Amino acid sequence: MSFEPVPQRPPHLSQTGPQTGIAGAESARSARGALTISSLDKSFTISGTARKVLDGINLTVRPGEFVSIVGASGCGKSTLLRLIVGLDDEYTGEIRLDGERVATTSLDRGIVFQDHRLFPWMTLEQNVELALLNTDVPKSRRAQIVADHIALVNLTGFEKAYPHQLSGGMAQRAAIARALVTEPKLLLLDEPLGALDALTRVHVQNELQRIWMQQRSTMVMVTHDVEEALYLGDRVIVMTPHPGRIRRIVDVDLPHPRDRRSPVLHRLKDEILAELTAAPTDTTDDARGNLVLLPTREDR
Ligand SMILES: Nc1ncnc2c1ncn2[C@@H]1O[C@H](COP(=O)(O)OP(=O)(O)O)[C@@H](O)[C@H]1O
Ligand SMILES: [Mg+2]
Repeated sequence: MSFEPVPQRPPHLSQTGPQTGIAGAESARSARGALTISSLDKSFTISGTARKVLDGINLTVRPGEFVSIVGASGCGKSTLLRLIVGLDDEYTGEIRLDGERVATTSLDRGIVFQDHRLFPWMTLEQNVELALLNTDVPKSRRAQIVADHIALVNLTGFEKAYPHQLSGGMAQRAAIARALVTEPKLLLLDEPLGALDALTRVHVQNELQRIWMQQRSTMVMVTHDVEEALYLGDRVIVMTPHPGRIRRIVDVDLPHPRDRRSPVLHRLKDEILAELTAAPTDTTDDARGNLVLLPTREDR
């Protein structure tokens, strides 16, 4: 996640949910985190030539919803997340979170990347606590909030561990704890499980689902793995490249926690893969036999 200076602390940080011990009351949660993207266009200029990367993106994400985004490499998924998190403000159109126009980074929005980006010289709890640095959460409450979030990601007992002492899956869960410790309205995840082996990946998918069900932050996750997108998402956004556009939005009308064997998931997976492979792109089988998309030649 970004450690850039963040100007203000969201009001919910002062609230404590008695059941979980984690800031953010249930009523506040359900009303927070509505994302609206309207007529979003984004271009990059290289050697004086503008190239459109995102074209006419319209998307509304409901508070507490889990939305997955799939699409070939280079279709602008990371660019879209960077715009939503406020790391890039050069775009036309509008991005609003709970009605407020996104202009810069804020504690309202957290992001988790494929690499955990934990500081190697800090313990797990120091890494998580660091995210509270620019907040006015009283020092006396920080230890408890950090402990609550380490518990949320099932890492209690590893507080004093350094990143190199954590497995890949544990380190990603630590990164999720760090991103959630400020109780963002919206958590963005850019291929968060992309570097994990297949078995660990399934485990962390289950953990992410549990964390989301417990936390109920709005979450928007980019993934190459269609099965993962469907397993976790209330909706799956299917994007196509050159320029990046939303091709289809798939409703996954199944309760959480999900059953991976659901025939509905398998049918939707086939449909989405058909959409994705209709566009020119390279594919391969991953360790679980899922068809995954490879970078297009120009993105390698
Ligand atoms: N800072 C940048 N300057 C110029 N082009 C960029 C920049 N960042 C991304 N791009 C281009 O924008 C396109 C979308 O990139 P990206 O959002 O990273 O795609 P994805 O995450 O879907 O793989 C790619 O063609 C990429 O080369
Ligand atoms: Mg990307």
